[in-house]
Amino acid sequence: MTAVGDIGDRTDRRAVISVLRRLLSPEGQANPLPVWEELRGMGDVVPAPWGGYFVTGYEACSQVLRGRTWLVPDIAWQERQPDPERWHAPATQEMSNALSRLNAPAHTCQRRGLGNLFDRRTLQEMQPDIEDHVRGLLDQLEAGLRDRGVADLVATVSEQLPVRTVGHWLDIPAEHHAHILDFTHRQVFAQELLPTRSDLAVSAEATREMRTFFTDLVRQRRARPGNDVVSGWIRHWDARFPDDRAAADRTLYHLIMFITIASLETTATLLSNAVWFLLRDPGRWNWLRHHPEHIDDAVNEVLRYDPPIHLNSRIAAEHTILAGVPIAKDTMVHVLYGAANHDPRRNPDPHTFSILRRGDHLTFGGGAHYCLGAALARLEARILLTHLLKRFPTLEPAGGPTYAPRMVFRRMTSLKVTA
Ligand code: HEM
Repeated sequence: MTAVGDIGDRTDRRAVISVLRRLLSPEGQANPLPVWEELRGMGDVVPAPWGGYFVTGYEACSQVLRGRTWLVPDIAWQERQPDPERWHAPATQEMSNALSRLNAPAHTCQRRGLGNLFDRRTLQEMQPDIEDHVRGLLDQLEAGLRDRGVADLVATVSEQLPVRTVGHWLDIPAEHHAHILDFTHRQVFAQELLPTRSDLAVSAEATREMRTFFTDLVRQRRARPGNDVVSGWIRHWDARFPDDRAAADRTLYHLIMFITIASLETTATLLSNAVWFLLRDPGRWNWLRHHPEHIDDAVNEVLRYDPPIHLNSRIAAEHTILAGVPIAKDTMVHVLYGAANHDPRRNPDPHTFSILRRGDHLTFGGGAHYCLGAALARLEARILLTHLLKRFPTLEPAGGPTYAPRMVFRRMTSLKVTA
């Protein structure tokens, strides 16, 4: 596949802008496949209209995520940018201290401190609680279906399970869950590809609420330490910064805040997508009911087919060549997970949803920043599908889903179901 190398070409710029507009439209949100297809048709590495590049091919995306030539856009890079309104905005700056925006050595140090968050033993211990959450949420779904005939799977189940799971794991009382979901949905605007001034203002307010909430959480846990996960992290960072309580608190705030918000919309989208992709073809729901041993395969195909995060950015640490395109040091590239997952050179017949495909995907990223919660997200999806298939054999969609107009973080806002 050829690469488009001429960033000054007006036709190419216009073509890319028009494709991106389509991605933001309701049609593009409902079905981004033609958009990804078109972008990949322009090359493995496609100039972005505002500078930098989109990376569309699987191999090129994998190379960027895993290669040492590529860094995440950290604070030092942001401070070199000529657009302070965007890069110095409070909400953007706040996320710049989070794990996903750190490079080595700070990143390596924090990842080592966390270890493997969801190893086999931890997941086994979490499983009974997740099963309980699922049973409770499906009781509510059943009540909604009984009383009104139709229920919203997103609001009733998919958005609730991740916040209950992570809330329970971090010992955050249920009375705070709605507020956490609310500021998470608003904070994300600053992390979109091209946030407007009003997006940044919405995010700034959400960021203030988020900071107050998680700073209080650390303070309260310090006052009453226990054997919970957060108390363990407090002990770890106090030992690392024995003479600097403020530094320990800053690190703790950013870790807890980021791990919590990174786990919510992403997992909710996976759960909603899983139910939608299985229900929109009635044969699939029924087939999986009779072959529950393939639930994990179904979850993997949902992750490949429609990744909850569409795009992630990296910076060239030095002059380099990517898929034949020379990229100057400090240039930003945007990895398009969905386009990569649908690259026919990696996954033949990529637009066919096939439970038994065992396809490859980059949905959880790759390399040093590989998602820390991948195993937990897969477990939540497996438990939810296992219970749903058993309890609601005749579940059906009552219309198509609706989506928030996003370019980076995909969010299904509603999926009405009936049984
Ligand atoms: C379906 C659900 C999820 C998806 C699709 C997802 C996706 C991702 C992606 C794409 C990255 C960036 C990887 C990279 O830059 O190469 C990431 C990082 C991360 N994710 Fe997830 N995630 C999910 C669920 C979770 C959950 C449940 C948690 C925690 C409970 C979590 C915690 C994190 C953290 C802490 C990072 C930062 C890792 C780092 O920068 O070192 N994620 N995730």
